[in-house]
Formats: sequence, structure tokens, C-alpha cells
Amino acid sequence: MGKLRNRLGRATLALVCALVSSAASTSVPDATPYEPPMPPVQRCMNLSSALEAPYEGDWGYTIRNEDIDRLKEAGFDTIRLPVRWSAHAGRWGRYKLNKGLLARTDAIIDYAMSRDMNVILNVHHYSELNNWPWRHERRLEGIWKQLAAHYEDYPDRLIFEIVNEPNGKMTVQRTDALNKRVVARIRKTQPDRWIVLATAEWGSIAGLLQSQPPSDPRIILSWHYYEPFVFTHQGAEFFRPTPPIGTNWGDTADVDRIAKDFRLAAAFRDKHNLPLLLGEFGVFDAAPVEQRAKWIGSVRHLAEANGFGWCHWGLSSNFRSYDADKEAWIEPVRAALLDD
Ligand code: BGC
Repeated sequence: MGKLRNRLGRATLALVCALVSSAASTSVPDATPYEPPMPPVQRCMNLSSALEAPYEGDWGYTIRNEDIDRLKEAGFDTIRLPVRWSAHAGRWGRYKLNKGLLARTDAIIDYAMSRDMNVILNVHHYSELNNWPWRHERRLEGIWKQLAAHYEDYPDRLIFEIVNEPNGKMTVQRTDALNKRVVARIRKTQPDRWIVLATAEWGSIAGLLQSQPPSDPRIILSWHYYEPFVFTHQGAEFFRPTPPIGTNWGDTADVDRIAKDFRLAAAFRDKHNLPLLLGEFGVFDAAPVEQRAKWIGSVRHLAEANGFGWCHWGLSSNFRSYDADKEAWIEPVRAALLDD
């Protein structure tokens, strides 16, 4: 019995020694496995016309889990979730956010994350901020105070975007200053959260090039591209005067114009050493589908060639890439976005 215990003891010791030496030779002794930082967004779809409508469904689209599945399977890594928080927040005091809307965004974010997708959550269509910033900047900060607390423990896959397309009275200087204040607030509890910063003048290249981003390694700069506007917005009645239908796009000079803009944006990105996201681009549905696909494909290829992640605007409703009535991708648009 004594011998047996001895032998067992020695065998155990030998096993422990073998494990220790193999652990040393594979050099992963840490209890916590090393996780490289998540790369910023590469291919992303705006789940547009849902939560930026006054109420989800008002604009003919309600987000479904199947849509997120479909995006994942098609090859997207991220969804951008535009939300009109300003229509669902108190007007004074702590600007309390509506609990039902928070629960709805939780459900979408949780589902997307269960499918290993990143989510960019933004504040969209805050038009009062653009008209009366001196009254509404504080409210936007209050909205972010609540969102930052609510999502504090969410993984890095959740990305915040402070405000969509500042314009009007939200000048370059006001936008830079507001971005910095909101970033500082989020950083109090979330030093590693990726934060997307939109720039003034509707997130255009002009606004981007004038902006002065904070120095922070977890910032993603963002801009939107819809040039030439008369082509991408032809027949878009929400815009007045509506650009007439029939503008064509696609000769060498047209492509060169985009390439030139993208080179300027890339140079700005390099100067600031921050990733740059093309947060929106797309063509309204009134243009012929082949024309839409040509422009979308060119912009997408130029974005990737310059190393920009991108988010197409949008999925359903308008600027569509997916036809929810037929439950089918609009194939030329899908191919322009994803095929080589
Ligand atoms: C706006 C949408 C618009 C799209 C293209 C977005 O930022 O929120 O209302 O359809 O840009 O113009």
C-alpha cells in the first residue's frame, strides 16, 4: 500500500513537472488569454429607416433578427444602428430616455452580438441640435451620459457614434468642441470603447478636412459620401428641390472625381493617425439599378483600396440593397458591395 502511494506520488509529481515544462515551452502561462484589440469596422450596413423614424415601422421597416442573420451570412461584420433618441428623451432635468426604446435597442444589439457582429449605435436626426445648439448640446450630453451608463459593461463590439451629420448652426468648431466633451464623459468609465466622430457640414469631406479630432487611439473618424448629389439623390422627394431623374454617372472623369476626394480623406486620416470610416454612401432607388450598382461598386472599391471601413446606406425602405417584399437581395447592389 505504502509503495503504491509512493508510486502514485511520484507519477503525480512527474505529471506536474511535465505540465509545468510544457506550459513554459509553449509560453502561455497567463490565466487570462491575450485578446488582440478588435479591428475597427470593415463592411457594415446601416439598418436605416427603422429606429430613426419617429417610431419603428413608421417608415415601412422594422428590424428583424433574420436581417441580421442575412447580413452576417452575406459577409458584413457590422451594423450601424441609427436611433432618433431626441424624440424619446425628456426635455429637461436628466433628459430621461424612454425605457421601451432602450429595451428595443438592447434586443437588437444583443442579437447582433450573439452573431459576432459589431454594432455602431448613434444619435440620428437630432435636427433641433443643428438649429438651436446652445439649447440642445447639453441635452445631447445628457443623452450620452445615460447611454454610456446603460451600455458601460457591453463588450468592445458595441461602438458609440456621438451624432449623425451635424450641420447648420453646428459649425465645425462647435462640433469639435461637443465631440471632445462627450468623448471625455464616455472615457470616465470606458477608456477602450471605440467612438465614431462625425464631422460638421453633414459629415461631408469639407467638414472632415476642417475638423480637429482629439488625440485618442480609440477614435474612428467618419465621413459620408453622396457625390455627385444630383446623381445619388435623383428623384429623392424628401429633398427639395428634388434633383430630377435621369442624371447618368460612370465615365472616367466621374470615377476620378471620387478617387481624388478619397485621396484627400486618406491624407487627413494619415495626418491624424486614426482609422477613417465611410459611415454612409448610397444611391436613391429612383436611379436605374445598373447605375446605382456602378456607383456603389466604385465607391466601395475605392474605400477598400484606401483602407476605409464602410457602411452602406441602407438595407430596406429606401436607398435599398434588400427587397423585403420579395425577401431577396437586390442582386446588382449586393454584388457591388461584396463581390470582388
Ligand atoms: C439621413 C437620411 C437620408 C440619407 C441620405 C442620412 O444621414 O439621415 O434621412 O436618406 O442620409 O441622404
